[in-house]
Amino acid sequence: MTSNKVAVILGANSNLGLNIALRLVELEDPKSNITFIVTSRTQERAEEAAKKIEGSIRTIERPGKVKFDSFVVDLTSMKSVKTFANELNSKYKVINYFFNNAALGLCDGINWLRAILEVCTSPKKAVTDPGYRIQKKGVVSDDGMGYVFQANVFGAYFLIHQLLDPLSKGKASVVWISSICSTSKYLSLSDIELIGSDRPYDGSKRIIDLLQLATYKELKSKGIYQYVVQPGIFISQSFSQQLNIFTYWAMFLLFKLARFWGSFWHTIDGYKAANSAVYAATFVDKDFERQDLKYGSATYNDGAEYIKPQEIEEEGKNLVYKYVESKRLEWEDKLKDE
Ligand SMILES: NC(=O)c1ccc[n+]([C@@H]2O[C@H](COP(=O)([O-])OP(=O)(O)OC[C@H]3O[C@@H](n4cnc5c(N)ncnc54)[C@H](OP(=O)(O)O)[C@@H]3O)[C@@H](O)[C@H]2O)c1
Repeated sequence: MTSNKVAVILGANSNLGLNIALRLVELEDPKSNITFIVTSRTQERAEEAAKKIEGSIRTIERPGKVKFDSFVVDLTSMKSVKTFANELNSKYKVINYFFNNAALGLCDGINWLRAILEVCTSPKKAVTDPGYRIQKKGVVSDDGMGYVFQANVFGAYFLIHQLLDPLSKGKASVVWISSICSTSKYLSLSDIELIGSDRPYDGSKRIIDLLQLATYKELKSKGIYQYVVQPGIFISQSFSQQLNIFTYWAMFLLFKLARFWGSFWHTIDGYKAANSAVYAATFVDKDFERQDLKYGSATYNDGAEYIKPQEIEEEGKNLVYKYVESKRLEWEDKLKDE
């Protein structure tokens, strides 16, 4: 019997989003029909994502059909998130995969002096956890929330809770994309919305890790399997935006050298970066696999890929969970008539 699978990819037009779709098509049963729900903040980019995915899977021979449904959603607007949730709930009774790949960093340029110093004195850090990328501080959304917190964490957290019914019916795999830089030093527990932080992007990824530990059991009791993964370091639009042709190639070369010298996190290309997301989403025996680990996309120095699981430090888990959950209830009430 032909099965029908539905996969939501938030931020589908990014390098990682496109490759998650490609790898999912490669791994899913070729007889199944797959509908990709692709999102962007503009209709044009959402449709472009669908076209790009269609192009990349053209050579894969499969009797099952692949279809696309594109939506506009801005995670920094709770009204937009609620509207999207309503549309999905009325159109899709079952959802099988949900990838929260959307994120932003509010990068405000590069501190070139620091970049040169870091590259010369600590090249590994310079290409793994760069301190020279300036992130905007103190930005608040129109909803009155920390902008990066809402875009990278809260919007998707709220959305998942609005979609519990179709996710549960689909025994869905829910995958959050974290980062290797999601360490506790980037999150102050007295500033969970990251408004005063000068590394809000990294702090938001730390919140994702902690929310995973706090919520996966509850979701599992509803038949939803949630995982947290990280893609390593790869070339993306957000990476290239800050660079010119010379600095782009210099950075690319440094990535290659870092990998050659033993940095397993330099996945560099989007396809290898997407390995962990699709690996976790397609676990065969979901009840057997650990959900308290972060699955990382890694490569050997010759570029061959593998999965590297990491333990997640749980300090602050309950505090973060309580904060985000109370915010969710507050917004559920505010949007109950939408
Ligand atoms: N690049 C790396 O080395 C690296 C390392 C670790 C983790 N990651 C993670 O990997 C994922 C993909 O990264 P990337 O570098 O490929 O990202 P990217 O090129 O910057 O793309 C980000 C995606 O997020 C969407 N997005 C941004 N803000 C949004 C908002 N307010 N509402 C809805 N969607 C929004 C964008 O959609 P539109 O612009 O079309 O609206 C875009 O599709 C992210 O979660 C990122 O944090 C990347």
